[in-house]
Amino acid sequence: MTTFYVLTLFPEMIMQGMNTSIIGRAIEAGLLQIKAINIRDFTQSKHKKVDDYPYGGGAGMVMQAQPIYDAYMSIVEELGYRPRTIYLTPQGPTFHQKMAKELALEENLVFLCGHYEGVDERVLEEIITDFVSIGDYVLTGGELPAMVMMDAISRMVPGVLTNEVSGENESFSGNLLEYPQYSRPEEWMGKKVPEVLLSGHHKKIEEWRLEQSIEKTRNIRPDLYQEYCKEGK
Ligand code: 6GU
Repeated sequence: MTTFYVLTLFPEMIMQGMNTSIIGRAIEAGLLQIKAINIRDFTQSKHKKVDDYPYGGGAGMVMQAQPIYDAYMSIVEELGYRPRTIYLTPQGPTFHQKMAKELALEENLVFLCGHYEGVDERVLEEIITDFVSIGDYVLTGGELPAMVMMDAISRMVPGVLTNEVSGENESFSGNLLEYPQYSRPEEWMGKKVPEVLLSGHHKKIEEWRLEQSIEKTRNIRPDLYQEYCKEGK
């Protein structure tokens, strides 16, 4: 079973966000486990403080090293080793599908969610193995990025995607976007479903879908299209 440990000040946000749909089902099926750990439970300060002013001045507060480290060490003690530990930060390399696939091979993963203006550098040096961003924009905390990553990683865990197709065979992993899909009715608002899809001719349907994927990728993601062409398919 894959276990995600999430070090956060908002454990309920994580648990609420991850209990729905496919991920919720995978948890119930015992394929995944999410343990949200409240960093505040590990503070040694009288007033349950977890942040303080930055040395050198500046805006905002900095999350202190001690509660984060102790929360992390509680995981290390449970596991008996130091698992791969990801810090969600817009300053990391951008998350992508290959990374999701690779991380899905880990039995245990830890996500550290920062808040305020940041986290004391010394605890990052001590515990973090990977710095990851989910894109070039700024969020208020690492919880949403952690959930984005857990969702993408989970569907690469064998058994999580129950339907016919596994995440492995997805067009995106081959640098192509998905072809367009249609369902009933055959005509809606005067728009007809492409004839070939009604033909029952499986080879022609496959050819049409690939052609659509290629054209769509070329138009809206020329960067991916270039990669696709390099594959030499
Ligand atoms: Cl991983 N964290 C935060 N706080 N903001 C982000 C991000 C991560 N990725 C993009 N923006």
